[in-house]
Amino acid sequence: MPDPTSELPAVILEALSPTSQRRILNRRGSAVWDVETGTGRYAVKLGYPIAQTSEWPAQPWTALAPGREGAVFQRLDVDGIAYGEWELGTWNIQPWHEGPDLYALWEPCRAKDSTIEPYASVALSCAQSLARLHAQGWAHGDVQPAHFVIGPDDTHLIDLALAHGQPLPPGYDFPYRGCLVHYEAPEISRSILERGVAEPTPAADVYALGASLFISATGWRAVEYPDDASRTEQRCAIVNGAHRPVNMASRLGALIEHMLSYDADGRPRIDEVVLALS
Ligand SMILES: Nc1ncnc2c1ncn2[C@@H]1O[C@H](COP(=O)(O)OP(=O)(O)OP(=O)(O)O)[C@@H](O)[C@H]1O
Ligand SMILES: [Mg+2]
Repeated sequence: MPDPTSELPAVILEALSPTSQRRILNRRGSAVWDVETGTGRYAVKLGYPIAQTSEWPAQPWTALAPGREGAVFQRLDVDGIAYGEWELGTWNIQPWHEGPDLYALWEPCRAKDSTIEPYASVALSCAQSLARLHAQGWAHGDVQPAHFVIGPDDTHLIDLALAHGQPLPPGYDFPYRGCLVHYEAPEISRSILERGVAEPTPAADVYALGASLFISATGWRAVEYPDDASRTEQRCAIVNGAHRPVNMASRLGALIEHMLSYDADGRPRIDEVVLALS
């Protein structure tokens, strides 16, 4: 079968007139392109539905995700955004953000016998990027290390496809069915196990930021389960268990411990996280 995202669709070529283009990933119903134009550099996301495999149920929502994200950007008044439909699903165009993600940036901290401490200033810039979103009345719903792009001047929190805050065009909207389970707060995992859906919240984002900082600094998932655990088993471990001890020396350790509080009410608000890191 031909690879449908190996070329940019005509609608994108017409919108951007690229001077160069490079597909940087294509997996699980989503392809991302790095596109240079005469006026700037953009990320282009193409969504398409994925059929059932032995590992994944059929996921028609992946086709809608870029359109939904485009609508979220529009509600947030972000500049340089466009979105629409192509043959297999939806697409969006968004400004390109240069820089390593949080996990890549803290790779030296995870090296064997490393004595390198994670920089609190980086944690602060991640917290600030999430605080800006919360201040606008949105929860991200998919906070994970790969979604913090640490640029020279600013940290950008990307992938807003699952964010919740205001109503979105019904044709592009779909229910929230959780995120990458390593970063799911216990109340989200419980709701997914019991009802199949959940409600993203700022408190769950704070938990996910705590789990993201912890894994990026130490290499450990916040909650212990076998590498080959199914997603249901992972969620059961999160709901039934305690998180791993946060054995980090710096003041980051105590803060992450607080962010990983089992009860949503026990976690700091993102403004308190920012204050603690400032
Ligand atoms: N605006 C952007 N600027 C720079 N890189 C980006 C941008 N948006 C996405 N990327 C790159 O593409 C990757 C995937 O993007 P994103 O997480 O938004 O898509 P996705 O469909 O959710 O993919 P995944 O299944 O990996 O989560 C990011 O980790 C990043 O490397
Ligand atoms: Mg993503």
